[in-house]
Amino acid sequence: MDPARRRQYLKALGIETFVRRSLADEVAEPVSVEVIEAPRAAPPRVADRAVEPAPRDFSRPKAVPPPQPVASPVIASTPAVDVPKDWAGLREMVRDCPRCKLCATRTQTVFGVGVENAPLMVVGEGPGADEDRRGEPFVGRAGQLLDQMLKAIGRSRADNTYIANVVKCRPPGNRDPEADEVEACRPYLDRQIELIKPKLIVGLGRVAAQRLLQTSEPLSKLRGPLHEYGPTKTPVFITYHPAYLLRSPREKAKSWQDLKRIHQLLSNTDG
Ligand code: URA
Ligand code: SF4
Repeated sequence: MDPARRRQYLKALGIETFVRRSLADEVAEPVSVEVIEAPRAAPPRVADRAVEPAPRDFSRPKAVPPPQPVASPVIASTPAVDVPKDWAGLREMVRDCPRCKLCATRTQTVFGVGVENAPLMVVGEGPGADEDRRGEPFVGRAGQLLDQMLKAIGRSRADNTYIANVVKCRPPGNRDPEADEVEACRPYLDRQIELIKPKLIVGLGRVAAQRLLQTSEPLSKLRGPLHEYGPTKTPVFITYHPAYLLRSPREKAKSWQDLKRIHQLLSNTDG
């Protein structure tokens, strides 16, 4: 890790003073072989564990019902769509998309930005006011923090990263996207991932995590282990959304650890 980059990121986060030097430096050390390239016959990989349904104990009475897939009732009501298999066609289809109610309130769709065969793909939640106005993901305050985070690990939308959102249109008032909206927009993000073929997908926050992993587990459970994105078997790492970090400075040190992990995971590929 370039010390200048580290300093810059820590400064952006306001945590210069309490991240131990040893911790901040360890990313520069060589890393043992991680999950991504382990042979299938090897002992269970974290990613394998993540895709298997967690064993549930049905023997005890439960106060809380088991988690349900986020969007199961809605999938059936979202018409199937033939999504173009090329960037130009996909872009055009998204531009005028009428598939959910967010089309009525958006200024414009926010398709995605970055390098179209990037090793790293970052998935956020949905456009905010700034993104809706400019037509590009993560250009507001959270976006500036995301750019700093990426820069700290040698990544940027200009050089080696692609950034997209779960929904391409702004939810009014910055509310969370609703399940039917996430489902309606699903084919577009799926196709983007298929076209980019990233080595690693980083999901930012709960909405992206649950959508990528098709689960309703809380973020606290999803952040940490390496997961897999079903359709392409791409490794998925979940971390905090930068907008949350802006609101909750306490989590910034953990975000820094996550970034180092992301850096390691990518170093273990040719990305
Ligand atoms: N938050 C997101 O999740 N996406 C953006 O594009 C901007 C803010
Ligand atoms: Fe279409 Fe997605 Fe926008 Fe809904 S959010 S209108 S599905 S592009």
